[in-house]
Amino acid sequence: MGNITLVVGGQFGDEGKGKLVDVLSAQTRVVARYQGGANAGHTIIVDGTKYVLHLIPSGILHEGVVNVLGNGMVIHPQSLIDEMAHITKAGFFISPDNLKISESAHVITDAHITEDKVAGGKIGTTGRGIGPAYRDKVARSGMRMRDYVEGNHQWSEQLKRFVTNTTALIHEARKTGDILIEGAQGTMLDIDHGTYPFVTSSNCSAGGACTGLGLGPKHISHIYGVFKAYLTRVGNGPMPTELTDSIGELLREKGKEFGATTGRPRRCGWFDAVQARYSVMINSMDKLLITKLDVFDGMKEIKLCTEYRETGKLYPLHGLDRVSPVYETFPVWPGTVRGVTQYDKLPSEAKKYLRRIEEVVGIPIFMISTGPDREETIVV
Ligand code: IMP
Repeated sequence: MGNITLVVGGQFGDEGKGKLVDVLSAQTRVVARYQGGANAGHTIIVDGTKYVLHLIPSGILHEGVVNVLGNGMVIHPQSLIDEMAHITKAGFFISPDNLKISESAHVITDAHITEDKVAGGKIGTTGRGIGPAYRDKVARSGMRMRDYVEGNHQWSEQLKRFVTNTTALIHEARKTGDILIEGAQGTMLDIDHGTYPFVTSSNCSAGGACTGLGLGPKHISHIYGVFKAYLTRVGNGPMPTELTDSIGELLREKGKEFGATTGRPRRCGWFDAVQARYSVMINSMDKLLITKLDVFDGMKEIKLCTEYRETGKLYPLHGLDRVSPVYETFPVWPGTVRGVTQYDKLPSEAKKYLRRIEEVVGIPIFMISTGPDREETIVV
């Protein structure tokens, strides 16, 4: 039996999962997505060229990897067709052999998108029709991909060859090789465990990987949580460590914190270990992947929130807008960590900050990203 590894967003999405899934994809046979739709925007940079994927797993950039869009996803056929064309134009090959769409994934219609654009303002949605499509799924009035391709719809013929029973495929594939599962968004946007109602409409956390692909909890071998070295959030909702001053502005500029899907500026703040501990617990994470460490280059100091004054180590899902963070302060290293590929080569100040994250979050770091390119990665 192969291993099944799950990569899940530990914060509010945009943690850099796409890059890390891309790095890990080189060693796997199947990469699968289990929830969400084109609200996600996974940015991957290969040899200086940037690719943004919304629906198709990052494994599509590797030869010989089978990419699965699981039953838990919601798919707008036109957007999928456009994305396939975009990837093909960039020189990557797509066929029914390397792209498989679950026959049970739900369809996002144009009416869902129109509705979301009007009604999604309060939450600050991406306007991709996600909420209305999941609502129809739960109300048992949605359309599934099998119904779509067997009906007489605009893209039925083009997509038919890709639509299949992906649950059977995954269980067959795990007999002989490794599978990588790619989460979209992040734990704090989970419909059940996030900051409701300021969440997305799917289970982004680890539980969603089981329902969204037809796996049992015991099938998953490793769960890696991806966290930025600081924190960002797009859209509305509480964020206790948010920085509304010039330091927040600096993080946004240096980290290029603008949405990959909507272009909106992301709210920036310090790493919140109270939130991270909650995320580790909800997902039963084994290891941490820390991204964007290089964004701190040239800054004066870093703060790390270890507790909230009102609740201590407890992350309160109700009343999160009323807590005040307690911080520890760390000096930033001289020079740069950009492109460092060995842990030993990191400056002592960077190691001190990372070690403290491990201590307060309670699990070890497995990988660190020191720049956007595939190569700019440390495996610890
Ligand atoms: P929706 O998923 O479009 O319904 O948006 C609901 C909330 O999730 C909004 O706050 C969005 O900004 C946020 N969101 C959705 N997808 C992503 C993502 O991929 N990264 C970060 N935030 C996201």
